[in-house]
Amino acid sequence: MASSGQNIHGEVDFLMSYQPASVLDAGCGTGRVAIELDRRGIHSVGVDLDPQMLEEAKRKAPTIGWHQEDLRKLELQNAFDAVVLAGNVMIFLEPGSELKVLERMAHHVDKGGLLISGFSIRPEILPLGRYDSLAEEVGLSLAGRWSTWQRDPFEGGAYAVSAHRKAD
Ligand SMILES: C[S@@+](CC[C@H](N)C(=O)[O-])C[C@H]1O[C@@H](n2cnc3c(N)ncnc32)[C@H](O)[C@@H]1O
Repeated sequence: MASSGQNIHGEVDFLMSYQPASVLDAGCGTGRVAIELDRRGIHSVGVDLDPQMLEEAKRKAPTIGWHQEDLRKLELQNAFDAVVLAGNVMIFLEPGSELKVLERMAHHVDKGGLLISGFSIRPEILPLGRYDSLAEEVGLSLAGRWSTWQRDPFEGGAYAVSAHRKAD
C-alpha cells in the first residue's frame, strides 16, 4: 500500500485525531493497528479469536497486551477511550452475533468514549442502517461517518468509517 501511495496508517491517524489515551484493537488480527498506536505512545490492547494471528502479533510486539478472546464474550478488566473494529471486522463476524459483539464493545468503551469501525458495505451481511440501530440499542450514538479514514464525505458508497459515542 505504501509503495502505491496509500497511507498504511490511515486508521491510526484517524484515531489519533481524538487524542485517546487508550485504545482496544478488537479483532486485531496480526496487530497492525495496535502496534502502530503503541509506537505512537498510546496504550493499546489487542483481542482476536485466532491464535495464529495473535502469535504473529506477539512476535512483532511482545510488550503489548494480546488476548485470545471471542468478542462476543469479552470481559476485560478495564474500559478504553476508544475501541476500534478496523479492517472489516464487523462483516467477518459470525452472522447473527453482531448485537452481542456491539454490546461487549460498548461495555469496553469509557463514558464519553468512541467505537470506531471501518467496513465495506455489504447489505446482504450488515446494512449500515442496521449497524446504527444495533449500536443505538447498546448505548452508542452515531457521531460521524465518512467514506475513508481520511474523512472524505460519506455519500452512500462502498465503504464506511463510523464513529459512535457512548454518553457521558
Ligand atoms: C479482516 S481481519 C482484520 C484484522 C485487523 N483488524 C486488521 O485490520 O488488520 C478480521 C479479524 O476479526 C477476527 N474475528 C472475527 N470474529 C471474531 C470474534 N468473534 N472474536 C474475536 N475476533 C474475531 C478474525 O480472527 C480476524 O483476525
